[in-house]
Amino acid sequence: MDWELLIEAAHTARSHAYTPYSSFPVGAAVLTAEGEIHSGCNVENRTFGLTTCAERVAVTSAVAAGAKQIDAVVVVTDTDPPSTPCGLCLETLTEFGSPDLQVLLVNLNGDRKLHRLSELLPHPFQFPPR
Ligand code: THU
Repeated sequence: MDWELLIEAAHTARSHAYTPYSSFPVGAAVLTAEGEIHSGCNVENRTFGLTTCAERVAVTSAVAAGAKQIDAVVVVTDTDPPSTPCGLCLETLTEFGSPDLQVLLVNLNGDRKLHRLSELLPHPFQFPPR
């Protein structure tokens, strides 16, 4: 796993974040099963509710490019400790990743915290219920 490329992509995406309301830029980058990297940033909206998180932008970008499986994601924030993805983003990741999907949280100090998706969302919604 070449984390450095994913981290760099997430930093670059973060620099493109559109955050006039929160001033809280987030960058994300996903690694697909094919080895491709797709990135995303948060894109806010004046309605607030239409804001899209960085992680979901990265996932939808990967899927739009043909990906069906995501093996890793990096999220970059300027917090200490580095922020975890919100519940919506975790649910979105479960759609395209296994419970073992690696989630690397990074901050601007260079702190890194590695999780499995199942640690962050142990009981995702199941459809149909099992
Ligand atoms: N945000 C993300 O991009 N990812 C998350 O997982 C949680 C929050 C964004 C949304 C909003 O633009 C800002 O962070 C503050 O909530």
